[in-house]
Amino acid sequence: MAKKSITININGTPRTHEVEDRLLLVHFIRDNCALTGTHIGCDSTHCGACTVLLDGTAVKACTIFAVQVADREIMTIEGMEGEALHPLQEGFYEEHGLQCGFCTPGMIMSAKHLLDKNPKPSEEEIRCGISGNLCRCTGYQNIVKSVQYASKKLQASEPAGGE
Ligand code: FES
Ligand code: FES
Repeated sequence: MAKKSITININGTPRTHEVEDRLLLVHFIRDNCALTGTHIGCDSTHCGACTVLLDGTAVKACTIFAVQVADREIMTIEGMEGEALHPLQEGFYEEHGLQCGFCTPGMIMSAKHLLDKNPKPSEEEIRCGISGNLCRCTGYQNIVKSVQYASKKLQASEPAGGE
């Protein structure tokens, strides 16, 4: 099958590869770019392990062809890396929001989308925000607490408003 050269901006870095039209975004991320923090749990849009941000919106990377997102911005779990842990990463650590960790990168990307749009979500809004992500280990309660931890920490780190 013929290939075409596409560039996708991933975590702020342009990544150019020759791909077939049928290549899924999740394979572009994992196989072409060696960013293996994005997981594949089902390959059929059910589990959310492959969740990444596309121009800031959480999407399942097993549902999108790489050619559909040429020249757009993708953020993967590796994009959360900084000198310190992101409050979401800290929250999952402090509140024991993971056991095997397989779902965690996708959970964190969905939670990031939620908190970017709604910094003070209710418990119900958090549960709704992560409803596309399945966890076989934790029972979700500690994941909800982890997102609440991050929400509080992000608010505490914001400068006082009004000036
Ligand atoms: Fe994409 Fe499960 S691998 S939703
Ligand atoms: Fe194991 Fe969620 S921590 S699947």
